[in-house]
Amino acid sequence: MHDKHQAFFDKLAEEWDYTFTAEDLDRLRHLVGKIGVTEGMHILDLGCGTGILFDMLRRAVGESGFVTGVDFSFEMAQKARRNFPFPNVSVVDADATALPFADSSFDMIVAFASFPHFSNQQRALDEAHRVLKANSKINIIQLESTKEMVEIHHKVGGAVTDDDIPSEETLREMLQKSKFVNEQIEDHPGLFLAVATNSK
Ligand SMILES: C[S@@+](CC[C@H](N)C(=O)[O-])C[C@H]1O[C@@H](n2cnc3c(N)ncnc32)[C@H](O)[C@@H]1O
Repeated sequence: MHDKHQAFFDKLAEEWDYTFTAEDLDRLRHLVGKIGVTEGMHILDLGCGTGILFDMLRRAVGESGFVTGVDFSFEMAQKARRNFPFPNVSVVDADATALPFADSSFDMIVAFASFPHFSNQQRALDEAHRVLKANSKINIIQLESTKEMVEIHHKVGGAVTDDDIPSEETLREMLQKSKFVNEQIEDHPGLFLAVATNSK
C-alpha cells in the first residue's frame, strides 16, 4: 500500500535527531517514568522514527525486557538501528496498520508523535489491541496539545499538513471500538496523553 508519509519521513530521517531539544528529552524521560514501564516488559514503540525513546525504554525494562520499534519509513528504521545497537532493542520495518507480530506479544505500546500520521488510525488501534497482552496499555503521546499540534503540522506542510488526532469524544469511541477500556485523555499546552487498557 502506498502511503505519502513513507517518502516524507524518509527524507527527514538523517536530520531528525536534531529536532529534539534538551528540554524535550527531559520531558520525555519524565513521561516514560510516569506511564508504568517496569523491568522485564516487552514494549512496542509504534512509529519509532530514529528511536528517540529507545534508550529511556531499554533502561526501564532492563536486561530481562525488550524494546521493539516499528516504523514504515525505511530510512527512519535504519537510523534507529544505527543509533541503538543494543541487545534488548530491535527495529522492524512495518506498517502500524498491519503488524507482523503474533497476537498478545507485548506488555505495552507507546506511540510517540506518530498516531496523528497513521493514515488508518482505527486499523492501527485494532492492530495495537491484537498484539497487546491482556490488561496491557497503549500510550499515545505528543509533547504538545492537539491544538498546538495542528498548528505545527500546518506550518510543516507537505504530507503532514492535515494530520491530526480526533476530538476527545471521537478518540474514546475509536478506542472502545478497538476493544480498549478505561481511556484517560489529557490534552493541554505541552502535552497530549491518551492511555487505554486492553480489554482482552
Ligand atoms: C513525527 S515521526 C515521530 C518518530 C518518533 N516517534 C519520534 O518522536 O522521534 C512519525 C513517525 O511515524 C512513522 N509512521 C507514520 N505512519 C506510519 C505507519 N502507518 N506505520 C509505521 N510507521 C508510521 C513515520 O515514518 C515517522 O517515522
